[in-house]
Amino acid sequence: MTPATPRPAPTGHTRVAAVIGSPVRHSLSPALHNAAFAAAGLDWVYLAFEVAPGAVPAALGGVRALGIAGLSVTMPHKDAVAAGCDEVSVAARALGAVNCVVNDGGRLVGHNTDGAGFVASLREEGCDPAGMRCVVLGAGGAARAVVEALGAAGAAEVCVVNRTAAKAEVAAALAGGAGRVGGADAVAGADLIVNATSVGMGADAGSLPCDAGLLRAGQWVADIVYEPADTALLLAARAVGAHPIGGIGMLIHQAAVAFTLWTGVDAPVHAMRTAGLAALDARQRT
Ligand code: ATR
Repeated sequence: MTPATPRPAPTGHTRVAAVIGSPVRHSLSPALHNAAFAAAGLDWVYLAFEVAPGAVPAALGGVRALGIAGLSVTMPHKDAVAAGCDEVSVAARALGAVNCVVNDGGRLVGHNTDGAGFVASLREEGCDPAGMRCVVLGAGGAARAVVEALGAAGAAEVCVVNRTAAKAEVAAALAGGAGRVGGADAVAGADLIVNATSVGMGADAGSLPCDAGLLRAGQWVADIVYEPADTALLLAARAVGAHPIGGIGMLIHQAAVAFTLWTGVDAPVHAMRTAGLAALDARQRT
């Protein structure tokens, strides 16, 4: 795909960032970051590397040896990279998962930008979670990042609802004093409901992660699923007069936070969103 602003050919000065994962070939990150580097006028290029499970220590050695400036980390390597970094941010340590690495002169510093990206996507839509009663559906890696970030953003309550109760307890603890575990009926009393399960995507497209009859006008309803853009939950939210927030915003903003950590430059969010939507569209056609 051609970025909106084409970049000049790489030279000996070009800096390199990359994503590692397995599988990684369908990642949207190269489209987002190459568009961002071009829009910001930075001589950087972003690649995708398929790294086999077990090969993370060797890959991190390569990052150090080659001077790769920034790394994104996707499944299944977030835990292994957290263990292999020289330093890890407070949020990434709490989550035990790193999705972004900054190479500071050979010293690898791990971050987790998922939660901050999620809260940025809420704020972009006019939703400030400070003081809100929140319900997070799910307790996997993405849900834990959301719970931690909502707690840090000053939510009054972060109630985790999950099929597997033991995982809900672990996730709720990440929101500190605001965290608790609840049942499915907690949705009715929430100001903000977040679907952080995989229900609504892939084979589950069209399914709801909670009873739509519990949604009401005025609530904020966010889905971290971005494919399809209009999940069954968001359609149900819109139908009752709640405010739907799609998952594409979290995808864009977690990348935008990473971009700024690597470059020290404000991310060109608009260019990233345009590129992300175009890449998603192209992916859906293949
Ligand atoms: P990720 O790391 O991407 O968040 P994950 O760790 O596999 O993915 O977590 C998926 C979440 O979706 C989990 O909370 C899972 O519930 P369990 O902890 O009980 O497994 C939830 N989930 C997946 N499919 C579900 C379904 N059909 N109904 C309810 N919850 C579901």
